[in-house]
Amino acid sequence: MAKQHLKPVCTRLELNAASYLKRNIRFKNQPVSAIIFAFEACAYAYVNHCMHMHRPLNCEQDAIFDETGKYLRCSMHGFIFDPKTGECQSPVCFGQRLQTLRLEEFDGTLYFAEKHLTLID
Ligand code: FES
Repeated sequence: MAKQHLKPVCTRLELNAASYLKRNIRFKNQPVSAIIFAFEACAYAYVNHCMHMHRPLNCEQDAIFDETGKYLRCSMHGFIFDPKTGECQSPVCFGQRLQTLRLEEFDGTLYFAEKHLTLID
């Protein structure tokens, strides 16, 4: 992939030190937020948008994981998601997925690797 499609997100050290990070982005011409986190030593990023009632996962509390740390959890109604795939595990939205944002890592820095993404701040 050409480097011009890479937009810096954070360093790997910053990500490892945080439970999650949030970035304001424009994705496919929509202003949205992205959540970025490390899970089992891998970095993941998703558009921060629960498909149930279209709320950010952290809308009611400053957290995106459930108490076990094994699942992402929307703080609005408690729906849970597989952190590796973004797939909803709760019955109403079972099988629907959070929008994945591809990441690349070079020299300890993570980048969004999406053509249709720009950083807002
Ligand atoms: S809005 Fe996310 S679980 Fe309802």
